[in-house]
Amino acid sequence: MRLYIDSADVEKIAKLNEYFPIAGVTTNPSIIVKENRPFLEQLKEIREVIGEEKELFVQVIGDTAEEMMEEANYITSKIPGNVVIKIPATVEGIKAIKLLSAEQIPTLATTIYTAFQALIAAMAGANYVAPYVNRIDNLTGNGVNVVAEIAELFAAYQLPTEILAASFKNVQQVHDVCLAGAHTVTVSPDLIEKFLSFPATPADVSAFKEQWQNAYGINKTTL
Ligand code: E4P
Repeated sequence: MRLYIDSADVEKIAKLNEYFPIAGVTTNPSIIVKENRPFLEQLKEIREVIGEEKELFVQVIGDTAEEMMEEANYITSKIPGNVVIKIPATVEGIKAIKLLSAEQIPTLATTIYTAFQALIAAMAGANYVAPYVNRIDNLTGNGVNVVAEIAELFAAYQLPTEILAASFKNVQQVHDVCLAGAHTVTVSPDLIEKFLSFPATPADVSAFKEQWQNAYGINKTTL
């Protein structure tokens, strides 16, 4: 399992990257425009924070495969390090994934709503597929089941494409896709911060400390 931060907020990325086991950062057009900054400047700052090894996912917005290719080549020429191009899983997007795959440019097929859509993207050569778990749930589908079906299909056909499950609104959804066979997940900073918020843990830690303090009169083990 690998964990990605779904954000373009440099401060939040820096903080989470310091504390959590972070594999990289995913963005999409909505996430980028929220920061209200020049596009490349924003991405380069994220790159400086996470280093060149960790993956940075950037989405294209063109309608045709040719436009997507042009944007993909531009982005990979401007942003140093390990960049993955996010391509919507439309008909034109599938063509772009085929072409980029032939050029060895890593791709993620995004806006995935069904397992069959993910299968086609994987057959076209996508390195990742991103099923939109919460958005599927909002359509009265079952996002976790879609992830489980994708995992089953990829295993059945021995496809190397990895599932990067996306679009979460609660920690339970993240937990459930991990069990359902997602290889990786991308999660918003606010939700990552909730991963470890169990009231019982700090209560236990306080009790340990109090007992120690009562016995030794000091709050550390370096006696
Ligand atoms: C990830 O790359 C997706 O674009 C993102 O997780 C979508 O999340 P949302 O449904 O919360 O907008």
